[in-house]
Order: sequence, then C-alpha cells, then structure tokens
Amino acid sequence: MELIFATNNRHKLEEAAQILGGGYILKTPSDFGLSEEIPEERDTLEGNAVQKAEFVKFHTGLDCFADDTGLEVEALGGEPGVRSARYATDGHDFGANTALLLKNLEGVADRRARFRTVIALILDGRLYTFEGEVRGKISRTAAGNKGFGYDPVFIPEGYTETFAQLPAEVKNAISHRAEAVRKLAVFLKDYGKYQGDPSLKGK
Ligand code: IMP
Repeated sequence: MELIFATNNRHKLEEAAQILGGGYILKTPSDFGLSEEIPEERDTLEGNAVQKAEFVKFHTGLDCFADDTGLEVEALGGEPGVRSARYATDGHDFGANTALLLKNLEGVADRRARFRTVIALILDGRLYTFEGEVRGKISRTAAGNKGFGYDPVFIPEGYTETFAQLPAEVKNAISHRAEAVRKLAVFLKDYGKYQGDPSLKGK
C-alpha cells in the first residue's frame, strides 16, 4: 500500500517506515514536486497535524497523513509542548532546544516528561486522528547520537539510557510515534477490508 507522509523530516520518515514494516511504501511531498516548507502555525498538536495534512492534500490532491509531536515537561507546566520545534529559536535547532531545556531544568528535581504525537490522516475526503505517547524523564545532561530532536535528553520509563543511546529498534517499539503509527496501521488495515481492497484480502 502506498501512503504519503506529509513530512520533510527524514528521521520521522525512517522511523515510520520501520514501525510500519513491509507492505507499505512511504512517499513524501517532495516525491510529488512539493518542496515548500509545510506550515505548522496552530496552537495544538492536533491543529498542526491537521494543518500539515491539509496543506499536502491541497497541493498534491492526494490522500496523506502528517504527524505533530511535542515534548511536555511536568515541571514546566507542559512546555515546550506545541512549541517544541521553536523552543530556543525560530528554526528547528535541535542543539539549542535541548540546551535551553536543560538550562530551564537546572536544579529541578521533578524531571518527569512525555512525548506526545498526533497523526492526522486524510482519506477519501475524511479526517481521522491517532495519538501516541511515551512517558519518561529528562536527563541531567545530553547523551547519545542516535535519533533526533530531544532524543539525547529523554529517558523513557523503564530504561536508564536516553532515546539517543538506545537502539533504534527499542525507540521504534515503545515511542510516542510508534503508538500513533501502529494505530494508523490498524485503522488502514480495517479500512482496506471494509472497502474490499483486494490487496488486503486474507490479511
Ligand atoms: P514536529 O512534530 O516536527 O513539529 O516536532 C516538534 C519538535 O519535537 C522538533 O524539535 C522535533 O525535533 C522534536 N521531535 C519530534 N519527534 C521527536 C522524537 O521522536 N524524538 C525527539 N524529538 C522529537
């Protein structure tokens, strides 16, 4: 099954492909000649996910899904949340964002946090959303070079290492994105059956 993931983030694309496994071919907006930056101007993760999916649908005419993710830190009242990408600067400066987060948590004992992902899917003129989360805590210092974004400072519950230290297979088994993408896959499988999609017969 071919799906468009409305993202220009290759890390997200790789993760989603690994989580979905065989049976899905993931395309990106650039495969359809859309190279513009995808806007995310809403004030909720849901709003941004929908905006991204609608933008790509509008420009390509094709069904697609988009995700928006935020890191919500308990001691910061849920910040940076929907502002996670632009926490320190206007750009997606991962190093500056994690540095600012560690600075804002200096001397703070309560390090609880969660990643939350919302996926918006546009399919046959309808909109569906799927959510995933992983709970954990913010480390005292950045560690590891795998993954992306805030991975070097996030230690998932039940582990002692950050997402950036853990193997990709572990992150992709337990992450916020994994949970949301799996819900999407279950939905698509059922949807295909209900629509009598021949490629899903017997699955
Ligand atoms: P967005 O969903 O692309 O808007 O991401 C918001 C911010 O969270 C960006 O700074 C991303 O780098 C970061 N982010 C998104 N997903 C992850 C993840 O799986 N791990 C770590 N950081 C992430």
